[in-house]
Amino acid sequence: MRTITETAVMQAQGLAWRKEGLRVGFVPTMGFLHAGHTSLMDLARQHCDVLVTSIFVNPTQFGPNEDLDKYPRDPEGDAAKCRAHGVDVVFMPSDFYPPGYVTSVRVAELTDRLCGVDRPEHFGGVTSVVARFFGVVQPTVAVFGEKDFQQLAVIRRMVRDLAIPVEILGGPLVREGDGIALSSRNVNLNAVDRQRALTLSGALRALKAEVQAGERDVAKLLAQAAERVDCDKLEYLELRDGDDLELLTELRSPARVFVAGRYGGTRLIDNLSVL
Ligand code: PAF
Repeated sequence: MRTITETAVMQAQGLAWRKEGLRVGFVPTMGFLHAGHTSLMDLARQHCDVLVTSIFVNPTQFGPNEDLDKYPRDPEGDAAKCRAHGVDVVFMPSDFYPPGYVTSVRVAELTDRLCGVDRPEHFGGVTSVVARFFGVVQPTVAVFGEKDFQQLAVIRRMVRDLAIPVEILGGPLVREGDGIALSSRNVNLNAVDRQRALTLSGALRALKAEVQAGERDVAKLLAQAAERVDCDKLEYLELRDGDDLELLTELRSPARVFVAGRYGGTRLIDNLSVL
């Protein structure tokens, strides 16, 4: 496994692979890797000849009062996990944004809802950094986790709208044994909040069970689910179309429930397909 820190070197390597006709797989991350990330690497590995993972805590997707400074980091642990999961190149850029960088890529509509309400600058930062990564790494296929389901939908739309020649795959959300969605931010929870945070996934599972039992009243389903969540601030709990993320007032397939809750300074999200 090779580590590349210079953006120009990474791009030269990506272009060389493409010229050789190799399928380049790409899993972008912000590091502090867990089983959710490694499952994306395993999925990418099945679709490529060479696999690149980036580790870059992208400042432009954090708002002014968000957790950029305390975003957890573990470069050595990350390298070991990448090696164990068949990564050929870890790209840890030290010079990612060139001097005078002024360009941004924004996807409208899909970013004005869910996480976009409380984090208005977030998705612009994500799409801009991912668009630049695609230009640098030159991937044939890129994998994003369904944990960040809205991000996956936004990236798919960007790739379609800008005709970027990369195939986007979604990797299933990975949970710990007790049901909590794996997230690098979970380590910021104290023991009490870690227990309280279980109510996020618990509420989603209970809502799905109600749907499977025949309940179709969206307002009732959401009110019951909200009762089950224990957090400092419930940012959203919504049933949306699983394709276009439109709000559902009547239940129909594909339906997905989305939740975001705050525990002190830590914001957790989760989602589940319900119909
Ligand atoms: O999902 C993430 O970790 C980030 O949003 C990404 C895609 C690596 C862009 O910085």
